[in-house]
Amino acid sequence: MLFGTILVVHDWPESQELNAQLAQLLLEKEKKSDSQGMHRSNAGGWQSSGNLITWNEPSVKELKTRIETLVFNLTDQIIRDEGKQRQFRLIIDAWGNINRDGDYNVVHTHPNCMWSGVYYVTEGNPDPSRPQNGLLELIDPRESANYIQVKNTILDARQFVENVPGRMILWPSWLKHMVHPYKGSEERISIAYNVTVVEETL
Ligand SMILES: [Fe+2]
Repeated sequence: MLFGTILVVHDWPESQELNAQLAQLLLEKEKKSDSQGMHRSNAGGWQSSGNLITWNEPSVKELKTRIETLVFNLTDQIIRDEGKQRQFRLIIDAWGNINRDGDYNVVHTHPNCMWSGVYYVTEGNPDPSRPQNGLLELIDPRESANYIQVKNTILDARQFVENVPGRMILWPSWLKHMVHPYKGSEERISIAYNVTVVEETL
């Protein structure tokens, strides 16, 4: 495989309590915020400030540990000079997203970092009759990637990921992605993050 694209999809077990705490935290933050929140790639919906990872709540600390665990594991797997001692430190930015009926995110990338991802807190109550309802779509940014003529292969230029509470996803920050419009009742809550990886000199 040449120029492969890493996509980590990890379902953290025993996430119910953590997700309940994170959902409550974000809904309270939204209620207290005097504006419509931050605006990034979202069309509708509410986004928290980008310093979520510095908040003091135990639930945020647990989320931070989960992000660090996945990124350090991934770094171990991709470096070519195994056995040589190398050390990295992570700089994480994270923000909460609350999407309601009709909200979506336009196609975008995340500049100035290495890994980007999302952690699903609640799935809401999506209308099952609508295909791709609220789904994350990852798009191969190579402009001719859709020249692959055989459908349904590992080379498909479009990939979808299901929103499952407790699921954490990680991809290279250059990878284009979007979130299809969410149609349904109840909030669909997630936490997005960017990770910068800094190599320490030993
Ligand atoms: Fe994004």
